Amino acid sequence: MTNSMKNKRIVITGPTSGVGREIAMQLAALGAEVILACRDVKLGNKVASEIARRGDTKPVVMQIDTSSQQSIRDFAREFRRRYRRLDVLINNASGNRGTLPKVNSVDGIELTFATNVLGYFLLTQELLPLLKKSAPSRIINVASQYASDLDLDDLQFERRPFESFRAYAQSKACDRLLTWALARRLRGSGVTANAMTPGLITETRLYRNATRELVQRLTQYSGGRTSAQGADTAVWLASNPELEGVSGKFLEDREEQECEFRNKKNEEKLWKICEELANDSSK
Ligand SMILES: NC(=O)c1ccc[n+]([C@@H]2O[C@H](COP(=O)([O-])OP(=O)(O)OC[C@H]3O[C@@H](n4cnc5c(N)ncnc54)[C@H](OP(=O)(O)O)[C@@H]3O)[C@@H](O)[C@H]2O)c1
Repeated sequence: MTNSMKNKRIVITGPTSGVGREIAMQLAALGAEVILACRDVKLGNKVASEIARRGDTKPVVMQIDTSSQQSIRDFAREFRRRYRRLDVLINNASGNRGTLPKVNSVDGIELTFATNVLGYFLLTQELLPLLKKSAPSRIINVASQYASDLDLDDLQFERRPFESFRAYAQSKACDRLLTWALARRLRGSGVTANAMTPGLITETRLYRNATRELVQRLTQYSGGRTSAQGADTAVWLASNPELEGVSGKFLEDREEQECEFRNKKNEEKLWKICEELANDSSK
C-alpha cells in the first residue's frame, strides 16, 4: 500500500454510501486526510469508524445538506474556520427521485437540480479561494455517462412534465458543462477541474426509489460493476502525480471520453443561471 496521499486533505460529499464511500475508503488507504461531508452525521461516523478499523487515519465528519444553500455556506464557513488548506474537492453527493414526485428544495429549487448541480456549483465557489491558495489542487465532479434531456430554458421542469430520470440525466449533463466552464476560469491558477463517471452500478443507493423492474434491467446491463470499480477513476484523478495540470476532461475507467455537450455558449449560460440562483434565494 502506498502513501501517495499523505499530507493531502480532501473533502468528499456524499461519502455515506455507494461510490462516495468507496472513494473515501480508497483515498484514506492512500494516506489522505479525509473530510466526510455528509447529510447524516450518524452514517458518516459509521463510515469514519470503518475506515479507522482498517488501520487508516480516522476521517473527520462534517454535516452538510448539499440541496440547501444555507447548509453549504455554513459548512464552508466552518471548514474555513478549521482549516487553512484544501488539496482536493470531490463533488459526489447526488440524488435521483425515482418514483417519487417532483419536489423543491428549501430554497424553492427543483430538488434534483438543487442537489446535483447547484450543490456542486456553490460548494465549489465557497471553497475555491482555499483551493487556489493551496494550489496545486484539484476539483473532481462525479458526473455520469447517463446524460441527456438538457434544456437550459427549463432546467427545473416547469414547462416539461417532470420525469425523475430525465431530471437526473439533465443534472448529470449539467455537471459536465459546469466542469468545462470552471476549468476555463481556472486556467493558470494551478487548480484543475475534471469530470468523471463511475459507470453503471446498481449496488449503490442511487436507485433506491426506482421500480424493481428497472433496477433488475439496469443490473443486467451493468455487468455487476461494483462501487469500488466505480470509485477508481476519481481516486486516480485525485492522487496521480502525473495528472498535475490536467484539466477540463471527462473520464471513465481512467480514459478520456468525448462529451457531446461541449458548447461554450451553453456552458456559460448554465454558469450564469447557477450564479443567479445561488445569489438569489439565500444568505
Ligand atoms: N450508481 C450509478 O449507476 C452511477 C452512475 C453514474 C454516476 N453516478 C454518480 O455517482 C455519484 C454517487 O452515486 P451513488 O450511486 O454512489 O449513489 P448513492 O449510494 O445514493 O450515494 C449518494 C450519496 O449522496 C448523498 N446525498 C444525496 N443527497 C444529498 C444531500 N442533499 N446532501 C448531502 N448528501 C447527499 C447520500 O447521502 P445519504 O446517505 O444521506 O442519502 C449518499 O451519501 C453520484 O454523483 C451519481 O450521480 C452513479
